[in-house]
Amino acid sequence: MNQVWTIAETHPVPPCTIVIFGASGDLAARKLLPALYNLEHCGQEAIPPKSAILGFARREMSLEAFRTKAREAATRFSRLQIDEERWGRFARSLDYLSGLDRPDGFARLKGRLEEIEQARGLPPNRIFYLALPPEAIAEAVEKLYGAGLIAPPQAPYFSRIVVEKPIGHDLHSALQITNTIRQYFDETQVFRIDHYLGKETVQNLMVLRFANSIFEDFWNNKRIDHVQITVSEEEGLGSRAMYYDGAGALRDMVQNHMLQVLALTAMEPPVSLAAGAVRDAKVNVIRSLRPIGPGDARKLVVRGQYAAGELGGQRVPGYLQEEGIGETSRTETFVALKARIDNWRWSGVPFYLRTGKRLPRRASAIFVQFKRVPEILFNRRVALPPGVLAIRLQPDEGSSLEVLAKRPGLDLSIQPVRMNLQYSAEFDGASPDAYERLLLDVMAGDHTLFLGARFVHRSWEFVQGILDQWQDDPAMPLAPYAAGTWGPKAADELIRADGREWFTP
Ligand code: NDP
Ligand code: BG6
Repeated sequence: MNQVWTIAETHPVPPCTIVIFGASGDLAARKLLPALYNLEHCGQEAIPPKSAILGFARREMSLEAFRTKAREAATRFSRLQIDEERWGRFARSLDYLSGLDRPDGFARLKGRLEEIEQARGLPPNRIFYLALPPEAIAEAVEKLYGAGLIAPPQAPYFSRIVVEKPIGHDLHSALQITNTIRQYFDETQVFRIDHYLGKETVQNLMVLRFANSIFEDFWNNKRIDHVQITVSEEEGLGSRAMYYDGAGALRDMVQNHMLQVLALTAMEPPVSLAAGAVRDAKVNVIRSLRPIGPGDARKLVVRGQYAAGELGGQRVPGYLQEEGIGETSRTETFVALKARIDNWRWSGVPFYLRTGKRLPRRASAIFVQFKRVPEILFNRRVALPPGVLAIRLQPDEGSSLEVLAKRPGLDLSIQPVRMNLQYSAEFDGASPDAYERLLLDVMAGDHTLFLGARFVHRSWEFVQGILDQWQDDPAMPLAPYAAGTWGPKAADELIRADGREWFTP
């Protein structure tokens, strides 16, 4: 067996209660409850046994109904199968309280927390996970304070708040949310989640770049022609029409997940692995992004909306035919853009970003295309393709380096070959889900994989430049694309205009 070096142990986790605000919603069902069940499955070394999970939302639901909902969610979305004994233990740790929007909702929350803590012998360590739409965040924070539920940072037990992306709807609302949170919570108590940072392959970006000496020498504008980041989703809207129609792909994916991946790909080596140092390095990338200034959105950004089409052999409706979407909606379900990072390392290297719903398959990857070799020797008579490093974020996690090799034979023929690292072949067992990792880190108080407010604001600044132009120019194209295709033609034209093509993940 290969040797393994443990650079940082997981931190110990004290017993606590996790309050999921919005526990009746999609995020709780698809990600949070399955992740918490998986952690329970890992046993003692994950969540301490006394810990409790309290679902809190507006709608009425009996505890039995909540437990059934959680079981259905875990059955459908958990990476581990349901084990009856473990499920029984997990189900007993679940509780549910409705009335989030009632005047006495937070007083009742306080009462219920005290009951749970007394019954289970738990210290009042509390995590408030706000799985709520951005517009409901400030009010929830104020009400937590009003109900006396926020312990000061120096208290012997902790009160932590978890805020989901997108933080805000635009730059202005993001700043307002930050200010409200800062009024009542110390920064050490705040965990801003972007679950892409919890993905194994995204965490591996730093290891790949900074634990291997071979990369640094070519990770710059001398060797790299351009970088592409594609996050493609096969799924459509699901049950999230209301949220998504008010957000769109730029707010939902680019402002957060894609800019995080871009920052990790492009950042300078941080001075240490401490959360603050990594945040500084990432923020510097976002600060160096060339703004998409007035008039540039038409040239540098393509937005699209899916029309009816075929996916996986099935006919699927277009965005405007989805339940809950108005027939005149101009919300984009696809964005492609060309970004520039104006710093010493990346000057002259375009970063092309592309994301969309109802694309042919779920696949996220970073492609780093190297420069061509000079037009001498092998490259003199034919234009040989340049090498490409593909980092597959999901699924089929891994990376491959495409290089040219002589095809065995009596002639001199050259063909591309791949050096391929595949997680499933190289490492035992399935990777933990991003939310497992992040929830455990919140319980342990480890900020390394969470966002700082500066990144949130800077990334909104970049995105706001585009949003403003879309809003100010009603004639700005919203290109249709058939579901099951790789997006509108305009996205191909965007990259072809530079003599390049999209790589298919
Ligand atoms: P849903 O619309 O499915 O659920 C929202 C939840 O919040 C429901 O429990 C709802 O309560 C409650 N809620 C809605 N509006 C209000 C309000 N004005 N005041 C108080 N409570 C309210 O959304 P999601 O679960 O999908 O998303 C929640 C957050 O998580 C969003 O910020 C989203 O961007 C983020 N997120 C979601 C992901 C996902 O995969 N779903 C992934 C990453 C982030 P009730 O139903 O009881 O009325
Ligand atoms: C969420 C977006 O943040 O990420 C969703 O709100 C999207 O619209 C999801 O589907 C994608 O996450 P993943 O982990 O499935 O790539």
